Amino acid sequence: MLLNMKNSFISKSEEETKEIAEALAEGLRGDEVILLYGSLASGKTVFVKGLARGMGINESLVSSPTFTIMNIYSGKGLLFHIDLYRVEDKKEIELLGVEDFLGMGIVAVEWGEKAEGLPWSTRIIKVKIKEEENGERKIEIKRLN
Ligand SMILES: Nc1ncnc2c1ncn2[C@@H]1O[C@H](COP(=O)(O)OP(=O)(O)O)[C@@H](O)[C@H]1O
Ligand SMILES: [Mg+2]
Repeated sequence: MLLNMKNSFISKSEEETKEIAEALAEGLRGDEVILLYGSLASGKTVFVKGLARGMGINESLVSSPTFTIMNIYSGKGLLFHIDLYRVEDKKEIELLGVEDFLGMGIVAVEWGEKAEGLPWSTRIIKVKIKEEENGERKIEIKRLN
């Protein structure tokens, strides 16, 4: 599986980031939480579009859920797309009820640092995206458990 082979990638374009995410999605069991880290405009939403593509979901449906906090897409399984940019308080995250749908699909969380420490008992994958000075993105994928 992709994750066992390699976990650090350089992406030179939006499309390459989507392809990395698509390959990740194809190797998933279907119930993982993917925590996405990276500054504004680093490519977290682009990465989720790639996950969607890998799950047979029309990627153009995927937009940043900054104002809605969570969007749910259906393809080969469900994709729960959460954006915690505007969330200040862990209680607000608890109100989303993520525990109730863990296991029902893939949960992708932008600003994953805000969800750290929550008792989400499933396989967690961390994806860190860093914009380099030349505009390329360094993408590190790490499976925690
Ligand atoms: N290698 C790359 N990977 C991902 N996005 C890239 C890349 N190079 C440039 N971009 C651009 O960076 C922006 C990333 O936006 P977005 O995914 O919404 O960021 P975030 O969700 O992290 O705030 C897009 O405009 C995209 O076209
Ligand atoms: Mg985003």
